[in-house]
Amino acid sequence: MSHTIAELETPIPVVDLDRLARNLDRAAAYATTHGLALRPHIKTHKSPRIAAEQLKRGAVGVTCATPFEAELMSEVCSDVLVAYPPVGSARASRLAALPSATKLTVALDSLRAIDDIAAAARTADRPIGVYVELDLGMHRVGTPTLDEAIALARAVRERPPLEFAGIAFYPGHVRESVDQQQTKLDALDTSLRAAIDAFDAAGLHPAVVSGGSTPTLWHTHELSGVTEFRPGTYVYNDRTTAAIGACAWEDCAFTVLATVVSTAVPGQAVVDAGTKALGREPMRGTDSADGFGSLLDRPDVVVKSMSEEHGILDLSSTSWRPAVGDKVRIVPNHVCIVVHLNDVIAGLRGDVVETSWPVAARGRGYDL
Ligand SMILES: Cc1ncc(COP(=O)(O)O)c(C=O)c1O
Repeated sequence: MSHTIAELETPIPVVDLDRLARNLDRAAAYATTHGLALRPHIKTHKSPRIAAEQLKRGAVGVTCATPFEAELMSEVCSDVLVAYPPVGSARASRLAALPSATKLTVALDSLRAIDDIAAAARTADRPIGVYVELDLGMHRVGTPTLDEAIALARAVRERPPLEFAGIAFYPGHVRESVDQQQTKLDALDTSLRAAIDAFDAAGLHPAVVSGGSTPTLWHTHELSGVTEFRPGTYVYNDRTTAAIGACAWEDCAFTVLATVVSTAVPGQAVVDAGTKALGREPMRGTDSADGFGSLLDRPDVVVKSMSEEHGILDLSSTSWRPAVGDKVRIVPNHVCIVVHLNDVIAGLRGDVVETSWPVAARGRGYDL
């Protein structure tokens, strides 16, 4: 039975299906145009159904962070990258227990991770590909020097059934406006050239150079040697992505539908989406924007503060005055966290709820 957005209980995440399809198509076309392998990070949607849409459009495989994500994705995808250090025997053996038909690759930056995943691969008697992770500026994970990276690649080679499959980096430090990224992109390009040359000189040609993010998505082809890219946020986009110009406001496919529950205090309206619906994510990479989300139809109206179940809309710079019971759609600052706060997402065609899907890979999926 189809129903309309007006009938939905709130707060609830809703996705505009036409915008979602457009976002998926645009990145797939970019990959084709530039001969790049698209391996989307599914941490944004955590849904096998959306992963299947990405694969249908030519994605070579998916990227995951957690074992649970990898398990659920292996139901729809035969080529899974876990771009997260496979440290600890519990994590490593859970990854090695993925279906044997699934091609599994991990990214890592330590000998300990190599030993853990090598032991799990031997026990499971399966090959596992390894990307050696480089720190090219984010300073989160990745070896700081090429000598260390090359030593890790050699250690991988010495531990079959592990296979050295390439190098990886994540440009998470490039978060400024798209038109102000050039200096950092140039530095990345220089670092990548040096890395590929050093690996080649060591006789360890990296068959795959894996990088990419949503803020840098449309510049990926300008980065030397990159063969595959892993954007995640681009499926839904969010207020941050729009603010830095990596998408248009009209490309924000994901909103939280909320109801105005109080206008008693002058100058504000209270909606039923607080931190438990919107998260408490700051805007990253932008100086000007504040608040925790803004209205899809009125981007100048922001959620200025929150309690767990209350979001306070700032009406001080608008003449718009909503009534109690009105519905609003809020574009969150950082969509990935908001998706993970929810069990189910409603898919909209216009104002009609056409479908829904679970956020299947949320949580850890521990079997205790
Ligand atoms: C290792 C890695 N690759 C790719 C991505 C995707 O980045 P984005 O969400 O900016 O597209 C992330 C995001 O956290 C990541 O951690």
